[in-house]
Amino acid sequence: MTEPTFSLSILADLIKILQTAKNVVVLTGAGISAESNIPTFRDAQTGLWAKYSPEELATPQAFRRNPRLVWEWYAWRRALVAQAQPNPGHLALAQLEAYLTKDALRTRHYATGFTLITQNVDGLHQRAGNRSVIELHGNINRTKCFDEGVIVDSWQPTEDVPPPCPYCGGYLRPDVVWFGETLPPQALAAAFEAADQGDVFFSIGTSGLVQPAASLAYQAIQGGAVVVEINPDVTPLTNSATYLLQGPAGQVLPILMRALSE
Ligand code: OAD
Repeated sequence: MTEPTFSLSILADLIKILQTAKNVVVLTGAGISAESNIPTFRDAQTGLWAKYSPEELATPQAFRRNPRLVWEWYAWRRALVAQAQPNPGHLALAQLEAYLTKDALRTRHYATGFTLITQNVDGLHQRAGNRSVIELHGNINRTKCFDEGVIVDSWQPTEDVPPPCPYCGGYLRPDVVWFGETLPPQALAAAFEAADQGDVFFSIGTSGLVQPAASLAYQAIQGGAVVVEINPDVTPLTNSATYLLQGPAGQVLPILMRALSE
């Protein structure tokens, strides 16, 4: 894992910016959960897609073709998520929300708006303590009816894989967004509204390759936001970002939080 590489002067600039920010927006991707031992999607050696291609698993067509394979792959990921713990990067984002939304800074007399938008479906931001979380791609711990889309909290124990929907008898499926499916409209609208209003936009642990989430940072740039990317690697956003804090989020974010709280 690469060590954080950014100058103390950049950190000082960022602290000053955060101390007068009115709305801070954070977009996270699979990279922030990497240090919780949840594989990202595109890291070749460990990526979730290393063993399968997305088309075989994360599409309605794949589910219709082989519902058992898709259900079992998500069951495997759910077990991975259940064993995972929020890492220092998740915890630092929860501290950042708490810090900014209270009138905690001497130099200000207002709380800062804070919105956390995630592409992740693992629920680790909520487990870390973040309250205002927009889940663009759903949540792997929620289940819905494949045919009706209604959320199903419980169903009879069964040998059937996938289990049948208790309402219509069709298949149950995870409440996550698959390729080719539309994102939850309210979540998407709220995310773009937040990006539009943001004066600081963090892009953390995302390769910025999947739309429409990848457009949020540019929406923020159009609104005049300072864009801060946190990633060990460069991405298509890097050249347009104001700052790249290069390194693992689990190391970079605690450094940022310590400096902000001093
Ligand atoms: P990717 O796997 O595409 O990208 C993960 C990013 O995290 C990469 O840029 C890595 O360099 C970076 N990264 C790895 N370790 C990190 C660490 N410790 N700290 C910070 N960054 C780290 O995952 P996403 O960008 O989230 O969509 O992928 C976006 C979407 O593509 C996913 O939500 C999923 C997938 O198809 C759906 O499921 C609909």
